[in-house]
Amino acid sequence: MTEENIENIAKKIVENNKGILAADESTNTIKKRFDSINVESNEKTRCNYRYTLFSTPEISKYISGVILFEETFSQKNSNGELLRNKLESVDCYPGIKIDQGLEEINKDSIETYTKGIETLDDRLKPFAKNGAKFTKWRAVINIGDSIPSPNCIEKNSSLLAEYALISQNNNLVPIVEPEVIMDGNHDIDKCYEVTKETLNQVFIHLKKKNVNLKGILLKPNMIVPGSKSGIELNIKEIAEKTFKCLSETVPKEVPGIVFLSGGLTSIKATMILNQINKSNNAPWNLSFSYGRALQEDALKAWAGKIENKNLVQKIFLHRARMNSLACEGKWETSLENE
Ligand code: 13P
Repeated sequence: MTEENIENIAKKIVENNKGILAADESTNTIKKRFDSINVESNEKTRCNYRYTLFSTPEISKYISGVILFEETFSQKNSNGELLRNKLESVDCYPGIKIDQGLEEINKDSIETYTKGIETLDDRLKPFAKNGAKFTKWRAVINIGDSIPSPNCIEKNSSLLAEYALISQNNNLVPIVEPEVIMDGNHDIDKCYEVTKETLNQVFIHLKKKNVNLKGILLKPNMIVPGSKSGIELNIKEIAEKTFKCLSETVPKEVPGIVFLSGGLTSIKATMILNQINKSNNAPWNLSFSYGRALQEDALKAWAGKIENKNLVQKIFLHRARMNSLACEGKWETSLENE
């Protein structure tokens, strides 16, 4: 058995066409998701829903790790079983969302930075001790009239690097997530330009802090036109520009790039990942760390009812399998209706 150091863990997460389930919605965000299906969000419903996903038979054929919110990390189901143990029992690594959300950079500023760096080291220790293998920190960059400012990109990149170093010092693989947000009426080239500048800054700061690039995973957005631009998504163009942007910015030592879905539909997120992997030979594994794009259909099928368990798990496993096929460029439309 290979030793469990951060380099091996990072590599293992993206090997064999596997990816990550992002189930780390904050209490506010999961409430919004549950509101959309008219289900009350409370400790019990959140536990039921997430346990249903995590106990999907064969989950670990396609999912190598799950990002958890704090509550879920120490949550037990009605039989007293820790949710994270369920994942460990099938060789799925539990990870923890460790940032503390967003704060305005200045008063009246629409730009944000990610909170929680001062207390990060102390907060990480109990998770490391209790079996977490990786962490996630999300920085947000918005595109709009005269934003992002260079200061916003610089501050968020510097915090991401500091987070990555502290995480590695605790023997946890950092998932470095600089998310350039899809909202807005900008075109695809603007997204490309802002993402490229952001990734450049992120790697400048990671290198400056001597972060071990073999022991991180990068979680970027895909290069897409703004969701309010009215521009139709062109899968080939998105795949080409995303790959070009990553090739120009991400060092080859990084073992894996795990995309966020950022509001793309489940199918589009699969199609783009597939197209990127079909057309290119990349030095890194290109996989997924989707939240909405893995859960959307399963959440609807669940509808707050325990008796829908088998259907939820079937739908979730199907989506995970489709994305796993997309990791090797072998997804096809016809497979969706199998
Ligand atoms: P989405 O795939 O829904 O964007 O969520 C991924 C994530 O973890 C955002 O931080």
